[in-house]
Amino acid sequence: MSIERPYVILNAAVTADGKTDTIARQGAAISSPLDLARVDRLRAGSDAIMVGGRTLLGDDPRLIVKTEALRAERRARGLDENPIKVGVVTNANALRLDGRFMTFGPARRIVFTTDQTDQAQVERLREREIEVVVLGAQRVDLTAALHYLKQAGVQHLLVEGGGVLNAELLRKNLVDEIHLYIAPLIFGGVSAPTFVSGDGWLRDEALQLQLAAVERVDDGIVVHYVPQTV
Ligand SMILES: NC(=O)c1ccc[n+]([C@@H]2O[C@H](COP(=O)([O-])OP(=O)(O)OC[C@H]3O[C@@H](n4cnc5c(N)ncnc54)[C@H](OP(=O)(O)O)[C@@H]3O)[C@@H](O)[C@H]2O)c1
Repeated sequence: MSIERPYVILNAAVTADGKTDTIARQGAAISSPLDLARVDRLRAGSDAIMVGGRTLLGDDPRLIVKTEALRAERRARGLDENPIKVGVVTNANALRLDGRFMTFGPARRIVFTTDQTDQAQVERLREREIEVVVLGAQRVDLTAALHYLKQAGVQHLLVEGGGVLNAELLRKNLVDEIHLYIAPLIFGGVSAPTFVSGDGWLRDEALQLQLAAVERVDDGIVVHYVPQTV
């Protein structure tokens, strides 16, 4: 692992056909109760939780530790009760100031964005104590974003999708582990999002993963992979 970035875990809940949502793209529930508890522990063990722009604007996730006992454990360790919430969004003009990402907490919040976000919105967000970091013109520079997080004290970063952000992090070799809950469900649909999207790789260039662990969780399985860097 490079010392210039945090240790990065990608976590997602997918269907048996690899979908992370239905064609309706309304943040369909996929995790089982035990898997939700697993994710909460993963969150509690992280210094920051990152999501991509479409997840942030579409799902408006809370990104907090849900279990009081886990929050208390963090406080006992001298940590904030919730990890830092991080959004990566090309254009943050539509980020709702009264949304869940903004209001659930307490939590430090960082939004990485580009020049495409209006200065007036940047100021509105900063007035609400959001750290807005402009990193790029077309897309957020993820290497710079991870470097920023490391400088901010983030040792362990949990990335909770979506597929475009996951693809970009994998393409740049910025991922240390992948945790997938595979639910006994099929959503189908060409336009339904998958765990990794982006431009894709041809077979010869496919990313190689090492299988690290498999565990049964409720009626699904959790698989841990380690990406192999060439
Ligand atoms: N089941 C699960 O575990 C899970 C978890 C998370 C999300 N989801 C689902 O996934 C769907 C959203 O995922 P998604 O793949 O469409 O989008 P996403 O990965 O959440 O967001 C990607 C967007 O972030 C912006 N971005 C800016 N800089 C970027 C960079 N360097 N690399 C990558 N993205 C960058 C881009 O916005 P622009 O296109 O505007 O430039 C990009 O399209 C939703 O349906 C959500 O419910 C499921």
